[in-house]
Amino acid sequence: MSSYATIYDAIGGAETIREIVTRFYPKVQAHPLLGPLFPEDIHPVMEKQFLFLSQFLGGPPLYSDEYGHPMMRARHLPFPITPERAEAWLACMAEALSETGVPESLQKLTIERLSGPAHHFINTESESSHS
Ligand code: HEM
Repeated sequence: MSSYATIYDAIGGAETIREIVTRFYPKVQAHPLLGPLFPEDIHPVMEKQFLFLSQFLGGPPLYSDEYGHPMMRARHLPFPITPERAEAWLACMAEALSETGVPESLQKLTIERLSGPAHHFINTESESSHS
């Protein structure tokens, strides 16, 4: 991304973020650990994620313009986020980035950036297997 100031610009801006989000949520919904946490109508969540990812990756502050301070950890507190769910979320995102054709170095960089918040949102211990 040498000639770009932000990941947002380097990956292709709004159009690319839209595609990532469109590819990401069906994977989330199909994932056994993640799907049950999300509402059936995923479209409002997709729209919010488009706004948030745009700003998180250095684009325009669309989420804050609409919803104020992101407070993302607090917004995730109603949902039991285990370490396994954080890894699953990142794995779905890695697949979406790859399918969108984001260059590999930028896929890696984006996942590195998202990995901090994903782990920070963990608020529940691993479920024991009771075996
Ligand atoms: C760590 C694993 C994660 C899980 C299990 C998870 C799960 C969820 C769930 C269940 C919702 C609420 C859906 C609803 O509206 O009913 C949500 C909302 C959201 N998540 Fe996550 N999430 C995770 C990580 C992340 C990360 C890393 C980001 C971005 C850095 C993110 C960004 C968002 C955004 C922007 C919303 C919408 C917030 C709003 O309501 O305004 N999530 N997430």
